[in-house]
Amino acid sequence: MILPIYIYGHPVLRKVARDIDPDNYSNLKELIDNMFETMYSADGIGLAGPQVGLEERIFVVDLSPLESEEHPEFKDFKKVFINAHISERGGELESTEEGCLSIPGIHEKVVREDEIRIQYIDENLQLRDEAYAGFMARVIQHEYDHIEGILFVDKISPLRKRMVKSKLANMEKGKVACSYKIRTVR
Ligand code: NI
Repeated sequence: MILPIYIYGHPVLRKVARDIDPDNYSNLKELIDNMFETMYSADGIGLAGPQVGLEERIFVVDLSPLESEEHPEFKDFKKVFINAHISERGGELESTEEGCLSIPGIHEKVVREDEIRIQYIDENLQLRDEAYAGFMARVIQHEYDHIEGILFVDKISPLRKRMVKSKLANMEKGKVACSYKIRTVR
């Protein structure tokens, strides 16, 4: 089932999400399926719980649409992160353009560290402790920010923030056009 994607200005996007109890969560598999279906319907590569109105620490990522000769490793990069916690960040600082399904029409450069270590539970309820680098680390950090109530526009330069201010103000008023199903604050 395709769920509406919550748009910038909705308070759920600003909540620090809580861990879930995956053993006693009814319809966890259905939620995961719905999140992937919703993400694909909007041509996204990542989607987090708050973006579908849930104050819960879950996000999904699928980089396979970005598979290329340069990045064959994206082909099988379809993952579910439950109760994720990033324990380490490091490496180089990289500046790369990002977008977000909750902030349609805005793409801006964000500086992030390019190496992370993350603990989480996967879709088979296995506890994992993994390290990621480069673009994978970037996408995971973007989604991780969502479960911490942080959005990528919080991290752009002051100049760029002024440039997108009116677009963001319109989103907060529910004035937004978009090809996928959305929910605005009003
Ligand atoms: Ni996003």
